[in-house]
Amino acid sequence: MTNNKDLSLAERISKLKQERNAVILVHNYQLGEVQDIADFMGDSLELSQNAAKTEAEVIVFCGVHFMAETAAILCPEMTVLLPDLHAGCPMADMITAEQLRQKKKELPNASVVCYVNSTAEVKAESDICCTSANAVKVVESLDNDEILFVPDQYLGHYVSTKTNKKLHLWPGYCPTHARIQPQDIIKLKQEYPQAKVVVHPECRPEVIALADEVTSTGGMVRYARREDVSEMIVGTEMGIIYHLRKENPGKKFIPVSEQAICPDMKLITLEKVLRSLEKMKPQVKVTEETRLKAKAAVDKMLAIV
Ligand code: 13P
Ligand code: SF4
Repeated sequence: MTNNKDLSLAERISKLKQERNAVILVHNYQLGEVQDIADFMGDSLELSQNAAKTEAEVIVFCGVHFMAETAAILCPEMTVLLPDLHAGCPMADMITAEQLRQKKKELPNASVVCYVNSTAEVKAESDICCTSANAVKVVESLDNDEILFVPDQYLGHYVSTKTNKKLHLWPGYCPTHARIQPQDIIKLKQEYPQAKVVVHPECRPEVIALADEVTSTGGMVRYARREDVSEMIVGTEMGIIYHLRKENPGKKFIPVSEQAICPDMKLITLEKVLRSLEKMKPQVKVTEETRLKAKAAVDKMLAIV
């Protein structure tokens, strides 16, 4: 019989995962070693859709806190593990529920659209949620022409260029995507003139203006599969490069900035995944009152995508 100590970390995780009836959901920015043990990988929208329909009893969420929280909002009967509770999202922390309540008083006629990178309390104060994959569609789906968009000003700005609605933007941003600069893209375009420039909508407007495609991380994975794409300049967090190269070995993927590393995403390691399954913690929970209100905003989004 094999002793547990003889097994690799990945093998021990796989064994314990089966015993616990767990599923491992992994965001596209995770470390390569964590991507390699995924049952399912995706962007925020794909991961929440997957969480909503899984039949497992436990979700090990390899991502950041708001993502695990969204799974807990959608699946209250499941145990949701986040292998390191310190894995947060600085942008999500740029608005509190109290600040949003104040802003709503100033803009009583606006509908509130909140980016999924937000706390459950902020979602609970919002009319509808969106992700980077569906933000334009969500805003367009609303009857109201006046929108308060929180917390990402850059995603909000991008949406405002795609709709005639009036958007009020909360001044939040992603510090990792803010490191991606237009001059880096201009330089790379000279070096790789055939390459397509694909950037995340959390990037600054000057970066977005240079892109052939603006899309979520899941959108980037699909774009890279296209036959007419052999070289891609990638404007988002570095973790996705591993995924793109692994799936498309013959193609070239050039990150715009090697400084675009989200320290929170990198907190999740194989050791922590194993420990979380052994101890069945840390768990992410949401109080029932907040959960029901936040779920209404998330469900509304899921109904239109
Ligand atoms: P995606 O939903 O596109 O994967 O983005 C999540 C995120 O946190 C981007 O910084
Ligand atoms: Fe948050 Fe930016 Fe990290 Fe995404 S990359 S989790 S938006 S800090």
